Amino acid sequence: MRAAYIEELGSAEVIRYGEIAAPRPGPTDVLVNVLATTVNPVDTFVRSGLFPTHLDFPFVVGRDLVGTVAEAGPGVIGFRAGDRVWCNSLGHGGRQGAAAELAVVSADRLYRLPGGVDPYEAVAVVHPAATAYLALFVHGRLRVGEIVLVAGAAGNVGSALVTMAARAGARVLATAGARDAPYCAELGAAEVFDYRDPRLTEKLRAAVPSGLDLYLDTAGVNDLESAVDLLARRGRVVLLSGARTRPVLPAGALYMNDRSVLGFVISHASSDELAEAAAYVNDLLGRGALRPRHIEIFPLSATADVHARMEQGELHGRRAVLRTDLASGG
Ligand SMILES: NC(=O)c1ccc[n+]([C@@H]2O[C@H](COP(=O)([O-])OP(=O)(O)OC[C@H]3O[C@@H](n4cnc5c(N)ncnc54)[C@H](OP(=O)(O)O)[C@@H]3O)[C@@H](O)[C@H]2O)c1
Repeated sequence: MRAAYIEELGSAEVIRYGEIAAPRPGPTDVLVNVLATTVNPVDTFVRSGLFPTHLDFPFVVGRDLVGTVAEAGPGVIGFRAGDRVWCNSLGHGGRQGAAAELAVVSADRLYRLPGGVDPYEAVAVVHPAATAYLALFVHGRLRVGEIVLVAGAAGNVGSALVTMAARAGARVLATAGARDAPYCAELGAAEVFDYRDPRLTEKLRAAVPSGLDLYLDTAGVNDLESAVDLLARRGRVVLLSGARTRPVLPAGALYMNDRSVLGFVISHASSDELAEAAAYVNDLLGRGALRPRHIEIFPLSATADVHARMEQGELHGRRAVLRTDLASGG
């Protein structure tokens, strides 16, 4: 089969595209004919070694896929050849990746794609949307009526956070570039603040005198000095981005108000947590309530190029979808 794979960790140039041996499913696995995959920031972290995880060479890159079931192992219940499916947890933790014509997925990490959903749009949202679910409901413990701030609300993860938090009955405040304010409002943000405004913190404080219950910063600025101060009693900051930041933490303001700061990566989510997120994501996909803002289609052979473009910031605001059925560039 054709695949995008690496033989060593390194920069985007270590990604090769060519023939490697097709995988075989174990008794509780499903073999999937991959229609498309995508590239997330974490795929570049795995490839470079920034996010250490067990992998075997040749290692197929890529976390997410959408495809059809080719064959189900004898111990698999619930999937049959031809079913349209998706997965968002390949390519780390000892699992081979999704950037290939065929992929083996453990049945407990595979989900049905709801009927009528565009598979190329779906593959672009399943990673950021599942991340948003975990941030809000598993780690952030969001409850109806709480006040949430989403910084970076127009981005892939941010837009899913706004959509989900608003649907869950929270009051959502958003920060975004001025041009993205209408988009954030359309997703459900009650108020949108320009992140470039020098008086941003002051304006946020005035908007929520009682404090924020949940603060999520997908832009990775991680200004904890302001964030902790903006929280209500028992408010939570959930860190999920900005791996290299070294924020200042105001300890007194934190512990004297029962506030907390915690972090997570979707990579460590259990298969049960991922399945719970997938059910929620599927519900929104099925209702047409979760769609990527812009997608750009590439052949699978362009994987190395897409990694490089992502790292150079060229894909800003767009999701790359890599299709296995398009003529390759080599
Ligand atoms: N922890 C996890 O499990 C997990 C999972 C998935 C992703 N992530 C991380 O989440 C981050 C976001 O990913 P993404 O795909 O959503 O990125 P993205 O689509 O580029 O979104 C980032 C957004 O932040 C905005 N922004 C830039 N500077 C800002 C600032 N100072 N204040 C507020 N907003 C600002 C950007 O607006 P402009 O267009 O104006 O620049 C953009 O809309 C990445 O670091 C990724 O690694 C973590």
